[in-house]
Amino acid sequence: STQAPFVNEAFVDFTLALNKRLMQSALDEVENQLGREYDLVIGGRRLRTESKIVSTNPARPKQVVGIHSKAGTEHVQQAIDAAQTAFVSWSRTSATDRAGLLFRAAGLIRERKFEFCAWLVYEVGKNWGEADADVGETIDFLEFYGREALRLAGATTPIQFPGERNQLRYLPLGVGAVISPWNFPFAIMAGMTAAAIVCGNTVILKPSEDAPTIAARFVSLLEEAGLPDGVVNLCPGSGAEFGSALVEHPQTRFIAFTGSKTVGLQIHERAARTQPGQHFIKRTILEMGGKDSIIVDNNCDLDAAVQGVLASAFGFNGQKCSACSRAIVDAEVYNTFCDRLQTKVAEIKTGDPVENVYTGPVISEKAYRKVLGYLDIAKTEGVVINGGQAIETPEGGYYIAPTVVKDVAPTARIAQEEIFGPVLSVIRSKNFDDALAIANNTEYGLTGAIYSNSRENLERGQNEFHVGNLYLNRKCTGAMVGAHPFGGFNMSGTDSKAGGPDYLLLFTQAQSIAEKI
Ligand code: SER
Repeated sequence: STQAPFVNEAFVDFTLALNKRLMQSALDEVENQLGREYDLVIGGRRLRTESKIVSTNPARPKQVVGIHSKAGTEHVQQAIDAAQTAFVSWSRTSATDRAGLLFRAAGLIRERKFEFCAWLVYEVGKNWGEADADVGETIDFLEFYGREALRLAGATTPIQFPGERNQLRYLPLGVGAVISPWNFPFAIMAGMTAAAIVCGNTVILKPSEDAPTIAARFVSLLEEAGLPDGVVNLCPGSGAEFGSALVEHPQTRFIAFTGSKTVGLQIHERAARTQPGQHFIKRTILEMGGKDSIIVDNNCDLDAAVQGVLASAFGFNGQKCSACSRAIVDAEVYNTFCDRLQTKVAEIKTGDPVENVYTGPVISEKAYRKVLGYLDIAKTEGVVINGGQAIETPEGGYYIAPTVVKDVAPTARIAQEEIFGPVLSVIRSKNFDDALAIANNTEYGLTGAIYSNSRENLERGQNEFHVGNLYLNRKCTGAMVGAHPFGGFNMSGTDSKAGGPDYLLLFTQAQSIAEKI
């Protein structure tokens, strides 16, 4: 094949008047399409159900983004059958053709980048830059996994045994479930789906109930790019009902999931229980939560550290598994750091993402109540130096002021539990040893960063800071496909390393063939 080498999709520069104008008109066009109805897609056919999932704009909860048919347990068998039928031909389709589908889809998304950004602004409340990063990562996953599938198709054994012709091939697994989150509702949803299908699997896609519209639009785009019927079956539904039944079905060969620790562990247990008629061990690919730390050493560039902590803690309101929710700051620079951070955080603007404000609303009323609950706890566990309360708007958006709590104990609840909102704990460390011990004291192990000018400490960090994605002298969010394969240790998941060279192996099974010559 003659694919150009992979390069990450460039970010849109929204300071340019042209891009601002394009984004503004995409927002206007998409606004006119809000409130449409979307059907289930099973075996290429549209299915309308009585019960619905209504997706609303978290900045204006009365504004309906999309009304979605809702898959129930009665749809599981139907979706499995459609995926099973499609598997017969799709698993035998060449890697070149399967990768071609991903490349065409990437091209179509690139052409409609502003439109997809606009959908993300309305459905999950991303600002323009965060929306663009999500769309860019989607394109990257499609381009990267397409190339990876071609590479795997050409793989062979490292050794040929004398007198034999030896092959090693990577076969698809079968029918899988993709259960995707709302926080990267485009990139992670499309990335898990694309990885599964490019290897020859077929998929039942259950997007988050908080972001089904972006998934429906992606499936339509895949169809435009030539997706055969039944290769991706779109089934928005409740996790507890449809999701659980799908995970338990004896023909579900694998489950690719990104979401909370609680749900990830439930999937892990359910998938481990063998069902009557089941002929294989189910595989689970689970990416879960984080309680991610940035260590601020006493000799570092303090302004860079403040900037990195702020971006990692408050980008998309801290609603990233990669978000920094703990700054661990050396006692020598602790007061200066807190003062500078407080000044910078006080300058953050919060408001409607349509207007490209730095932080918008949190995703839902449920999330809003959960974060407010943690703000009450925060007042008893430390000193709140920014935020600490909700921000009321006439539209009733789910806004929470960016919150910094200092003097937090390393074992406090707000220093241990994943809040998934704009709440940062600042913890004082006695020295670098103490900082490392604090950083490693959670059950998670996803991302982490160290700001330091000491080569020795940076090297110690590489050996002793136990996280899947470690960053040195930079923020701990915004992993780039290819450069930063993404996934965490311990309760953060199965360390599946999305966007890396090992990822597609998780969606395949290797077969060795030896022929006597
Ligand atoms: N990949 C995202 C990041 O690095 C999180 O899912 O921020």
